[in-house]
Amino acid sequence: MMGGQNNDWMVASRMSKSLSLSLVVALAVAGSSSLRAQHRHHNQIAAQTKNQPWMNASLSPDERADMVLKQLTLDEKIDLLHGNGMPGWGTPRPNAYLGNGGAGFTLSIPRLSIPFIQMSDAAYGVRMSADNGRYSTALPSNLGSAASWDLQAACDYGALIGRELRAQGYNMTLGGGVNLTREPRNGRTFEYMGEDPVLAGTMVGNRIKCEQAQHVIGDIKHYAMNDQESGRNEVDSIINRRAMRESDLLAFEIGLKVGDPSAVMCSYNAVNGDYACENKYLLSDVLKNDWKFKGFVLSDWGGTHSTVKASAAGLDNEEPEDLFYGPKLKEAVQAGKVPMSEIDDHARRVLRGEFAAGLVDFPIQKSVVDVEGGLKTARSIEESSIVLLKNEQNVLPIDGAKVHSIAVLGLNADTGMISGGGSAQVDPPGRPSAPWQSHVWFPTSPLKAIAAKAPGATVRYGGSEPAAAAEAAKGADVAIVFAYQWESEGMDLPDLSLPDNQDALIEQVAAANPHTIVVLETGTAVTMPWLDKVSGVAEAWYAGSDGANAVANVLFGKVNPSGKLPMTFPRSVADLPHPHLVTPPPGATGTEAVQKTGEAKPTFSVHYDEGVKVGYKWYDAEHKPVLFPFGYGLSYTSYRYSGLKLGEGSDHSVTFTVTNTGERPGTEIAEVYAGLPAAAEEPPKRLVGWASVALKPGESREMTVTVDPKYLSIYNEQKGWTLVPGQYTFLVGGSSQDLPLKQETTLN
Ligand code: GLC
Repeated sequence: MMGGQNNDWMVASRMSKSLSLSLVVALAVAGSSSLRAQHRHHNQIAAQTKNQPWMNASLSPDERADMVLKQLTLDEKIDLLHGNGMPGWGTPRPNAYLGNGGAGFTLSIPRLSIPFIQMSDAAYGVRMSADNGRYSTALPSNLGSAASWDLQAACDYGALIGRELRAQGYNMTLGGGVNLTREPRNGRTFEYMGEDPVLAGTMVGNRIKCEQAQHVIGDIKHYAMNDQESGRNEVDSIINRRAMRESDLLAFEIGLKVGDPSAVMCSYNAVNGDYACENKYLLSDVLKNDWKFKGFVLSDWGGTHSTVKASAAGLDNEEPEDLFYGPKLKEAVQAGKVPMSEIDDHARRVLRGEFAAGLVDFPIQKSVVDVEGGLKTARSIEESSIVLLKNEQNVLPIDGAKVHSIAVLGLNADTGMISGGGSAQVDPPGRPSAPWQSHVWFPTSPLKAIAAKAPGATVRYGGSEPAAAAEAAKGADVAIVFAYQWESEGMDLPDLSLPDNQDALIEQVAAANPHTIVVLETGTAVTMPWLDKVSGVAEAWYAGSDGANAVANVLFGKVNPSGKLPMTFPRSVADLPHPHLVTPPPGATGTEAVQKTGEAKPTFSVHYDEGVKVGYKWYDAEHKPVLFPFGYGLSYTSYRYSGLKLGEGSDHSVTFTVTNTGERPGTEIAEVYAGLPAAAEEPPKRLVGWASVALKPGESREMTVTVDPKYLSIYNEQKGWTLVPGQYTFLVGGSSQDLPLKQETTLN
């Protein structure tokens, strides 16, 4: 039962008999939405009659938080600064029944009308729905959503998750992962937004903005430099400050500016010697003082490692328990080791987040998740996320009216599509929740979706055993192989090859059928030794609850693909900045021990000496060819770029024209890059903006992208963001390695 609701109705029962009777009559009459309005209105009346001026929603979140803070006892302040356990995490606490079944909760303060914060993981959908007998939509993976480069799609993504969180009784998300893809083998690459800070930060910010608008506390994570999973609790990420500010931290800075989340989750790892959740530079100097963050920092689960140091550094809330921010914090305050001013700042930030996100003014009303609406949104986002990587002899799109025979191959391609594991795992409908790090397939059938598109054709499923699959593929008009690469939190991939002998499967099918298409369901980049032997390749990422229909809509041309890669697909792991993943030394403490006791120290380091050269910036600077570049994606039509014009002086606008030179309507994502003066000592180019444009065959459109001067600047420890005077090069095109428009200009 949601404590918040208890709390609300408790307020009602204290009202005078006559008032509550007439209220009941009124509520019985009103419809649900006006019921909600009445409910909220009566809450506020009740609260104000109880002399709670902070319930006046016209006051700012800061004023309201300050008013409540003045009323709190020390115990009540500390109640706001830690969790109360998580189902499956150690021994359940006596008050566990107050939780909503999610990753954690902080206590309500009923006498002051402050509700519980009920938190849930929600990377690509609401987690643990099966455990709680509920339903969640699985959206395409976060990395997949980044491939759409579509801000409205990012907003729809967040809004859906926000609605489903509230329907299930939550009012805080733990989604919003934006760690840069510095290491493509990172097991959580699927859960993040790719390698470029401007794309990643802008997309995650729009997700957060629309998620938080549903009256859940928004979150951005894992702050910061948590760029691999191996030894994540003991690794010390070493990187110079300028490089960190211009790469991983820039993604957070943009995400915070665009999305304004009320929560930042600090990460397990250490950064330059101090654990992120007790790192004064990250939490206070950068986040709170430089970026003026007004929300609260919560630790990753088991990521708190001290009381006095963490409080002074700027950690506001320990999750999921109170090893350091419960009795120990009270003792530290009473012993004068932690000043009350720090406690007040921590508590104020949590309260402000509750007011700012609307938790107080919009108490949770559980409701039924919109299943059909969720499938439609998931399908639409997936359709704009699919990246067409190869399409020889226009083998795609398939003409459903003319094709006679189709062979469908690949593990589970007759029944389902893979999803990402770990704390992001969404439970498929009607299934028990899967054990940690197990492969979870969603009941969306590629075979069925393809058959529906070609009613007159013979559509056969040939399994995933290479020889049998090749036999089934022989003689068909077209063979479609669905290949997967599973990823999860808590692990990194050994390499970027397709697992389970799928390269052999694809090779043998391609040998049997000259019209072979590969649909990739991968969490990150993959190598493709069979690329020259197949006719078509489409990257579908983890495709979500209705992924099969989205993929079929693209394969049969109902949708013209427009996705562009949010990360580089390298030729080989040998080309990576760190060819050998740096893993913990023998005898390292191990995640389990750390997360239970919190007593830990970094046991090994990863030196990110490539600095700001993440992804395409690395391959450009190192002159390394890649398999498919950042920003790459084909269409069923073609586009021409012309008419580049740059703004004058401080007007950093870039104007150009895009023309659809093909036979089909399509949407083109036009990318704008900038090369800085040599004195800036930066990689050859960086993404500074983009614009997407829908064009009919033959149609042209002039576009203007206004570039934020910060994106043209370098970060200087003393002066902050600085524009280096000199010659800048602006480049425009449809991929980071296809930029037909180029012009120099001098900026001062
Ligand atoms: C996990 C993850 C974090 C998640 C939290 C709660 O270990 O690192 O992303 O939100 O714990 O499940």
